[in-house]
Amino acid sequence: MTTRSVAVVTGGASGIGAATARLFSSRGYAIAILDLNRERGEKLAADLTTGNGVARFYSCDVADAGAVDAAAARVEADLGPADVLVTSAGLIPNSESIMDMDMEAHDRMWQVNYNGTIHACRAFGRQMIARKRGAIVTLGSINSRLPLPLPAYNPGKVAIARLTQLLAVELGRHGIRVNSVGPTYVMTETLQSRVDAGLRDLKKIMSVHALDTLPSPEDIALAIGFLCSAEARTITGILLPVDSGWLAGVSYKTYAGGVPWKE
Ligand SMILES: NC(=O)c1ccc[n+]([C@@H]2O[C@H](COP(=O)([O-])OP(=O)(O)OC[C@H]3O[C@@H](n4cnc5c(N)ncnc54)[C@H](O)[C@@H]3O)[C@@H](O)[C@H]2O)c1
Repeated sequence: MTTRSVAVVTGGASGIGAATARLFSSRGYAIAILDLNRERGEKLAADLTTGNGVARFYSCDVADAGAVDAAAARVEADLGPADVLVTSAGLIPNSESIMDMDMEAHDRMWQVNYNGTIHACRAFGRQMIARKRGAIVTLGSINSRLPLPLPAYNPGKVAIARLTQLLAVELGRHGIRVNSVGPTYVMTETLQSRVDAGLRDLKKIMSVHALDTLPSPEDIALAIGFLCSAEARTITGILLPVDSGWLAGVSYKTYAGGVPWKE
């Protein structure tokens, strides 16, 4: 058990979760990485432990409530109770038709993305309730706001935004804040591989943002860091888009009358 504050990051072995683990480590937190990817998770924990850092990897399938409870008990025994929880574990699909989709894959996506968020919020939220403090950030998306052809993922992200509000009210009585971040396309290795495979059109992506730069995983981590900080002490139940102006731009830039400047 350390005297440091403890940040738990599900899906912390790669992408946004890994950037978040690095950020909280740089701010002096002890880090618990919960992920299925042992190789990457252990490597990151070892990286964060060089110098003055404290970090541990816990192999855990967030879809399995019992596994998350067991991991939470081990984190508490090893590092102490959670001060921060970031639920970044998730599966990211490609476009598909509701008529043709594989229902097993659909159910698995709900179990990981939505139920996995609930499992982690319950297991670590209980540790926070006991101490009457804590901050939770769930991973929403631009999908939390508008329809995109990702039949399990898209409504799942809407549900996570609503769940975040429910938890904010339920846990607010205990001094715990619960917020969500809503990234647009973030160029993680996972997304880059989809672009390389022709499953995402980068030109199309860039044409509907207000800005000409996409957020990096570190940009999302900084927004999460803000939501967990004392500066955000009266912010709870929100979805903070980190979207380079996608929500503003996606209808504006596809207006049938064109944009009022020369392209
Ligand atoms: N990258 C984007 O463009 C983007 C945009 C909006 C929202 N998001 C959300 O951000 C979150 C992280 O995405 P990312 O881009 O960093 O993806 P990523 O693939 O880089 O990382 C996801 C991590 O979750 C882990 N994981 C997957 N299933 C798991 C399970 N059952 N149990 C435990 N760990 C599991 C993976 O091993 C991986 O380390 C997801 O919720 C995703 O929906 C991503």
